[in-house]
Amino acid sequence: MKPSWVFATNNKHKLEEVREILGSHIIILSLNDINCKVNPEETGETFAENALIKCRAVAEFTTLPVLADDSGLSVFALNGQPGVKSARYAGENASDHDNVLKLLMELKNVEDRRAQFRACICLFGLKTEPLYFEGVLNGQIINEPKGQEGFGYDPVFMPDGYEMTFAQLGSELKNSISHRRLALNKLLSSGVFSI
Ligand code: IMP
Repeated sequence: MKPSWVFATNNKHKLEEVREILGSHIIILSLNDINCKVNPEETGETFAENALIKCRAVAEFTTLPVLADDSGLSVFALNGQPGVKSARYAGENASDHDNVLKLLMELKNVEDRRAQFRACICLFGLKTEPLYFEGVLNGQIINEPKGQEGFGYDPVFMPDGYEMTFAQLGSELKNSISHRRLALNKLLSSGVFSI
């Protein structure tokens, strides 16, 4: 029988992506599935610190292993911003659209459009110490949003080697190359399933 892990996220897009990637190995339970309503403040200065904060908050509600993702966009010309603040770049209650518009404003007339999506996945409660897996994907920020799929900065992020944004490429292609996929590939090849 497949083991069950809880995924500590309130982001339904991330939940779908992680289920699509890990679903053949693990039953991924949502916070709803375990009736957990936490939304911890992300006070960390790194993706790893924030991923651990999310895991710890949810581990109070379950004895199952907990998985969390903290991720974001780092733009070279903005010295790595929005980084850990990606979800709240345009303010505490900013929508994805607000964040994209702020990013495009900041990059107005900026030639260097290089950016990276970064993801840190933390697996907590399986071994005595938390385990971390990181994925980084290089790309470019285009001048205006394109495409309808995905979430966050997907409409303006064009991964290297492609002529379309993540929002145009669709979930199957995105899930085969994304920062989250790269981090989860490391988890899959780490041997945690044989523990
Ligand atoms: P978190 O939920 O605190 O990890 O914030 C992640 C934020 O980073 C999201 O709200 C998006 O703004 C951005 N982000 C992370 N991964 C992606 C992705 O795959 N596509 C688009 N935006 C992403």
